[in-house]
Amino acid sequence: MKNIGIFTSGKSDWNVQQLEGEVKKKGIGCVTFPLSELVARLDSKPRVSCRGYDLEEFDALIVRWVPKGSAEQLIFRMDALHRLENLGIRVVNPPIAIERCADKFYTSSLLEDAGIPTLPTVVTEKRSEAMKAFEEFGDVIVKPLFGSLGAGMLRITDRDLAYRTFSALEFGRYVYFIQKFIPHNNRDIRALVIGNEVLAAMRIGEGWKTNVSAGAKVEPYELDDELKEVALKSAEILKCEYAGVDIIKNLDKFYVAEINAIPGWKGLQSVTPVNIAEKIIDHLVGQ
Ligand SMILES: Nc1ncnc2c1ncn2[C@@H]1O[C@H](COP(=O)(O)OP(=O)(O)O)[C@@H](O)[C@H]1O
Ligand SMILES: [Mg+2]
Repeated sequence: MKNIGIFTSGKSDWNVQQLEGEVKKKGIGCVTFPLSELVARLDSKPRVSCRGYDLEEFDALIVRWVPKGSAEQLIFRMDALHRLENLGIRVVNPPIAIERCADKFYTSSLLEDAGIPTLPTVVTEKRSEAMKAFEEFGDVIVKPLFGSLGAGMLRITDRDLAYRTFSALEFGRYVYFIQKFIPHNNRDIRALVIGNEVLAAMRIGEGWKTNVSAGAKVEPYELDDELKEVALKSAEILKCEYAGVDIIKNLDKFYVAEINAIPGWKGLQSVTPVNIAEKIIDHLVGQ
């Protein structure tokens, strides 16, 4: 392997810096660029380029950031990644995995239909149906369909607040993603799958939101065989080569809350001696 490209946000990103460091340690070239600056050509070359680099010259491309955009922009970017794959370039995570994980409804549907326990959820475009879901669950979390880092999620237990919130969301033509609140003692498990391996940590939040980016503390956690199997199977169903799997435990039940195709691992890295970035790059180079 001679050259790896990483799609990044352009801002300093600890995870990307870790990956770049490991790539360079192996004597492999590393270039970063934004996914929003792709240029695709038909009937002439380069077929897909970014900031002047012909992307067919890369042995692998790692996607670490998909900038926000319109439906057109997002579909073009993903289609360009599919094209690169068709041209034989290794894309990690593959575009199919990024598509499957971007949408919390799609992710959970694929998991549930493969027999993995998911959280009780109603997804709808109709405000009246959203209200019915609130009445049914009583205590709900309303999530952005494409959200991450715990940002923009609301816990609602009050009927009037539900009504006003859903009315406001209607104006933005949002899809309602309404999930039953599952008490979990302010903690959940983050499993990081890399190929056939799984590392894990317990995240302990100050409130119900346990994202490290929302201030949760991290402790080492030993996964039992059942959850290890669930994490591996979840990543496989979503076609991820590496993935962050969020697992909520409640009494003796567990639920897979979501899968991240662009997971961060700073929290997990702080409680494990394993060099996670090295593991990811070893996996990439070894395949
Ligand atoms: N239905 C739920 N009940 C209780 N806590 C939840 C529920 N869904 C999510 N959470 C908490 O919120 C965190 C973020 O939710 P998640 O679905 O992973 O969204 P994000 O993509 O923003 O990380 C989870 O790690 C979990 O601690
Ligand atoms: Mg999460």
